[in-house]
Amino acid sequence: MFQIYSYMIIDEEKKQTFIPLCMQKKILILDFGSQYTQLIARRIRELEVYCEVVPYYFNGETGDEILGVIFSGSPRSVREDEPISPGKDWFSIHVPVLGICYGAQFIAQKMGGEVSPSTVREYGRAHLKKTKNTMLLDEIRESSEVWMSHSDTITALPAGFDVIATTETIPVAAFAHESQPIFGVQFHPEVVHSEQGMQILKNFVFSVCGATPNWTASNFIEESIRSIRQQTGDQNVVLGLSGGVDSSVAALLLHEAIGSRLFCIFVDNGLLRKNEFRDVLHSYRDMGLQVTGVDAKERFYAGLDGLSDPEQKRKTIGRIFIEVFEEEAHKIENVGFLGQGTIYPDVIESVSVNGPSVTIKSHHNVGGLPELMKLKVVEPLRSLFKDEVRRLGSALGLEPNILNRHPFPGPGLAIRILGDVNAHKVHILQEADAIFIGALKEFDLYNKVWQAGAILLPVYSVGVMGDERTYEQVICLRAVSSSDGMTADWVDFPHSFLAEVSNRIINRVKGINRVVYDISSKPPATIEWE
Ligand code: XMP
Repeated sequence: MFQIYSYMIIDEEKKQTFIPLCMQKKILILDFGSQYTQLIARRIRELEVYCEVVPYYFNGETGDEILGVIFSGSPRSVREDEPISPGKDWFSIHVPVLGICYGAQFIAQKMGGEVSPSTVREYGRAHLKKTKNTMLLDEIRESSEVWMSHSDTITALPAGFDVIATTETIPVAAFAHESQPIFGVQFHPEVVHSEQGMQILKNFVFSVCGATPNWTASNFIEESIRSIRQQTGDQNVVLGLSGGVDSSVAALLLHEAIGSRLFCIFVDNGLLRKNEFRDVLHSYRDMGLQVTGVDAKERFYAGLDGLSDPEQKRKTIGRIFIEVFEEEAHKIENVGFLGQGTIYPDVIESVSVNGPSVTIKSHHNVGGLPELMKLKVVEPLRSLFKDEVRRLGSALGLEPNILNRHPFPGPGLAIRILGDVNAHKVHILQEADAIFIGALKEFDLYNKVWQAGAILLPVYSVGVMGDERTYEQVICLRAVSSSDGMTADWVDFPHSFLAEVSNRIINRVKGINRVVYDISSKPPATIEWE
């Protein structure tokens, strides 16, 4: 009943057919393209209820048990000639439905109501006034703040529906059917600025849909173990560890399920942080994982020699990684599966109705590995969000130094050394980076930052040390706050902290005589410099 399938997408007249990620009873979220769709899913998972995001045209023919359906918002309008609409008549099967923003307008219009252009485009905070008691608004105060973002407004409700809340500017801020479990809200309950939004989602999920909060780490572990065993049979699994959270948690979960049939490979590409390869390898072994550490530093440096274009550097690193990994994997017998730490945001992105986001940087550096090695894929984390992966890792006993580690890019320090890369530059950057990261930990700032690191700039500047003139390179420090890496802001550290780090780097790292701090947010800048 709770089985994890690999996600399968079949092209069918440009649309896709889906096999569920998990046969758990679920809330389904139809994605009409809103920027908040993932957020709805995260909120419901926070309630320990399993949910999945599917494109709006999903036709529901997967046989899984659907407790309720949420129609997301959309940048589109229901007033278009052919508004985008669900691939199934969800109302006729009497499953509870909650429409949010576009979703609510769609329900109103579809059932015979009216949607018109807003006279004033409503964006931001609004005061919700409850006008009628219903299950959806149970425990919601008479007046509370909500977050609006719409340019169409429901001006008339269909027969059989009642207004249950209004705001100063719109007559229908929320509505409910008189007898069926169909609801609509014009605002976004999933956004934190909607004060009691979580209570509304809670009411829908538990009171209306009758869901039980059983999406917990221990249930997930138990059921994943069963399904991994079933999927892999008696074949071995090989997995590439990177030192990051996702691959480490995937390895621990696979290890729980198949023990010594899991073979891990950790490649030293010479582009990791100072001492990282040695330290992380020890940690993995302490956790009982069977890991082969491969020193391939020289191969990577040789491949990178003379390359300065960022994309070329990324592709070269990806190619060499695949070569090294394949050579090692071939030494293991009876391998049928490649384990991967793919997580849910990657899956959602690949099936998003907006299409995968524009490739600004080719991040999926080692794509193509399973096809090349003719291996099936086992991805035990593909239904989880990052925070769920962390909770799972903690339940599986992952060491805090790996669990709470900042994200680190696959091509490592190569994309933090602007221009061409060599062992000497890597050494300089490793030293400066270690001082910065060490200071963040010492001053108790490390866990308050999403990601931090040092960048070696290809710039020489004049300095003076003692009585001597120096002509050396510049280190740039970068630290950002973010929740998913898609947008980010630079961290406003105390000046005294930056001064201390700068002093330490200039005094201790030979080859550096100047330190600067990056104060650019993303967008328009990116987190990495290359
Ligand atoms: P950007 O620089 O695009 O980075 O703002 C967003 C997040 O992605 C990481 N990043 C990468 N990760 N391979 C990776 O595995 C890459 O080529 C790569 N480029 C950037 C970056 O560190 C940040 O967390």
